[in-house]
Amino acid sequence: MQKVLVLFAHPAVKRSRVNRRLAKAASEVPGVTFHDLYEAYPDLVIDVSHEQELLAKHDVVVFQHPFYWYSSPAIVKEWMDQVLEHGWAYGPNGTALKDKVMICALTTGGHREAYSREGHNRFTIRELLTPQEQTAFLCGMRFVAPFVVHDALRLDGPHIDPYVDAYRALLEALRDDAVDIGAALLAQRIEEVVVAATPAPFVAKAMGVVKGGAR
Ligand SMILES: Cc1cc2nc3c(=O)[nH]c(=O)nc-3n(C[C@H](O)[C@H](O)[C@H](O)COP(=O)(O)O)c2cc1C
Repeated sequence: MQKVLVLFAHPAVKRSRVNRRLAKAASEVPGVTFHDLYEAYPDLVIDVSHEQELLAKHDVVVFQHPFYWYSSPAIVKEWMDQVLEHGWAYGPNGTALKDKVMICALTTGGHREAYSREGHNRFTIRELLTPQEQTAFLCGMRFVAPFVVHDALRLDGPHIDPYVDAYRALLEALRDDAVDIGAALLAQRIEEVVVAATPAPFVAKAMGVVKGGAR
């Protein structure tokens, strides 16, 4: 069993449709610690000791948030600035996070094709996450391919359900050490790795890995 910590960040969660549903599912997965950063720190003053204690107790760190300006809501940056201290997270004796897994779980307004060389966002999500990946690398963490829900502004009601199921399946797979981390380090998207390990064909379909059923 792996201890999974979900760090959730949405500055207007009451108006969220997709993240709110994903967050509820995450908070209900047994063995997963769910931590809402804006709820804990509405004034953005981070309790660094508390966050470091939480991190030390977990093996997998999930950053869940909407994609804002090709990055994250502001509290995630503030959290990184404050919590990832020299001598603790990196630098001399900074080994507290060594070998832990980091993964981003994102929603985007942009559609899937927009995040490609030919699309209007020009880069893949994985490429846009380069600063996060290098941050993880500097801290000795293993940064794996992201979980991404595209077109979030257009999804509603039952169309969100398969993504909720896929996210739950991902968190359970991470918890149960059922994800091939070696493959996930190299993949563009986590579902390329996780789908094979999950029983539900609709998860694969929802995540766009296959059309019409399980592969
Ligand atoms: C300040 C701001 C910046 C945004 N930047 C991006 C962006 O860079 N790329 C993108 O695809 N969507 C962007 N969006 C759209 C959000 O990603 C989208 O509203 C969110 O994923 C919807 O999820 P929710 O229903 O949980 O709020 C942005 C939205 C806001 C408010």
